Amino acid sequence: MKIALAADHGGFELKEAVKKHLIEDRHIEVLDLGTHSAESVDYPAYGHACGKAVVSGQADCGIVCCGTGIGISISANKVKGVRCALVCSDFAAEMTKRHNNANIIAFGGRTTTAEDAIRYTDLWLDAEYEGGRHARRVAMIEDVE
Ligand code: RB5
Repeated sequence: MKIALAADHGGFELKEAVKKHLIEDRHIEVLDLGTHSAESVDYPAYGHACGKAVVSGQADCGIVCCGTGIGISISANKVKGVRCALVCSDFAAEMTKRHNNANIIAFGGRTTTAEDAIRYTDLWLDAEYEGGRHARRVAMIEDVE
């Protein structure tokens, strides 16, 4: 499995913490699309880049971070085929895989601790998409793309 990571300056530190966890604790390959410092950059470029990496198959799924997680999740969701969820709780982290089959999750570097983001990441990665009635709803999302 390969996970694409992208962040703006507001999410840079959180991306680095999640990346370390993925590589060192879970031995998962990552595709780090930047940014690589706390210098100010524009979050849409990073959200789009992560979305494109996932829908093109360069990565299996992705994690994006900005200050709130909002701007970069909106940006990722503009890429056809992306289902990016801004995750703020254990329950949402698990359910967005089980029900929405989210292929990207987003965190806010100014709203979410590294400890929480890492736990949310694991809950999302370890959950299974349930399909069934949820597949119809996911298809309805795709219908408007
Ligand atoms: C950057 O200052 C900030 O606007 C960005 O990281 C994010 O929070 C946008 O939604």
